[in-house]
Amino acid sequence: KEVKLWGGRFEESVTDAVEKFTESISYDKALYKHDIMGSKAHASMLAKQGLISDSDKNSILRGLDEIERQIEAGKFMWRTDREDVHMNIEAALTDIIGEPAKKLHTARSRNDQVLTDFRLWCRDAIDTIVRSIQRLQVALVKLALKNEGLIVPGYTHLQRAQPVLLQHLLLAYVEQLERDAGRLQDCRVRMNFCPLGACALAGTGLPIDRFMTAEALEFTAPMRNSIDAVSDRDFVLEFLSANSIIAIHLSRLGEEWVLWASEEFGFITPSDSVSTGSSIMPQKKNPDPMELVRGKSARVIGDLVTLLTLCKGLPLAYNRDLQEDKEPTFDSVKTIVGMLEVSAEFAQNITFNVERIKKALPAGYLDATTLADYLQIPFRTSHDIVGKAVALCVSKECQLQDLSLDEMRSLNPVFDKDVYEYLGVENAIRKFSSFGSTGSACVTEQLHSWVAKLGIN
Ligand code: ARG
Repeated sequence: KEVKLWGGRFEESVTDAVEKFTESISYDKALYKHDIMGSKAHASMLAKQGLISDSDKNSILRGLDEIERQIEAGKFMWRTDREDVHMNIEAALTDIIGEPAKKLHTARSRNDQVLTDFRLWCRDAIDTIVRSIQRLQVALVKLALKNEGLIVPGYTHLQRAQPVLLQHLLLAYVEQLERDAGRLQDCRVRMNFCPLGACALAGTGLPIDRFMTAEALEFTAPMRNSIDAVSDRDFVLEFLSANSIIAIHLSRLGEEWVLWASEEFGFITPSDSVSTGSSIMPQKKNPDPMELVRGKSARVIGDLVTLLTLCKGLPLAYNRDLQEDKEPTFDSVKTIVGMLEVSAEFAQNITFNVERIKKALPAGYLDATTLADYLQIPFRTSHDIVGKAVALCVSKECQLQDLSLDEMRSLNPVFDKDVYEYLGVENAIRKFSSFGSTGSACVTEQLHSWVAKLGIN
């Protein structure tokens, strides 16, 4: 058995069970690119500070390049007995370049190393997710562009409320996603400080330059407090919180589209390419991708809860428990990216059933609130009058616009014949004019600003 990199004081080797239980190489090899980046920055700094020679530095850099090539070619041997990505790469470097490799870990601990790698990884992951968010926003805006003028029922309590433009509704999701991206960017700003050089927890007496490594790795600055640097996981808690909020938004979108695809709503028809069938019922065509978007939000929340629970009760500074931070993070990122991508794909593959939506629009008195606004008497009074008008319609099984002027006047003399300009969903929609409302001028303006912002042509 190979002696561990930390094996100096040990007289026995660890049991197979312990080795298997404590390893992280099976998943933290995902950090290899960032581990190599960090090591290169560290070696260059050590040389600049006179802690290693230039020729040592050059062999280290060359060796690390060789390792990266081997990994990318699938030829690198990941070894469980070398525990994690850091020791696998360091030991392999020694195999390749010999003595100089043994100087790389000067003024460095795996504690600051792993956090440097992990922050760099999370930073890239944020950029990837933000790009996926934008792709979904583009798909939603394009869907809106395809459906100009389409009025759909707006719901509260899942009961018909007021008419809205479909475009307005789709842009509501675009707005949510914009805040989601903003939360990730905010998190990235706070995350982007460099732990490297914190060493085990206390820093070092060697003359390192932490500003140099921070800059080389494009961090804003080194972290101020070495104990905090190796203990902190709030950067990833914040990241997974932001992911959880995205997951919830997508889950709500999923639920909405699953409902809309049902026979009962019948608002959308997803194409076959985004639907799946039943193994027993030959007629079935299910919106599984969006059901799974809804379902997978559970994992993303679970990943956050795992990490919160992991950190609860840990004293400063590094504890091995913290190795458990990676799998939930990797899972959260992979899941969120999948959810965003498949939602965009779904959006590109649905058609709105215009005729069916139009036919169903008269139901539910969507114009009642517009009628209450029309009266221009104290709102509580007009609310009551329109309520009575609705009750009359319910008993006559008709719509508000079917009431005669005399019937309306019997409820209140304020009604005049121009009332019919307020009734029916088309008329009702035309009356909206407040900022942010479903009025078509307002929605069109918003749509144009999204088209410009997202660079859609
Ligand atoms: N694999 C470890 C982790 O992910 C690296 C740090 C190990 N440090 C230690 N002192 N054992 O946390």
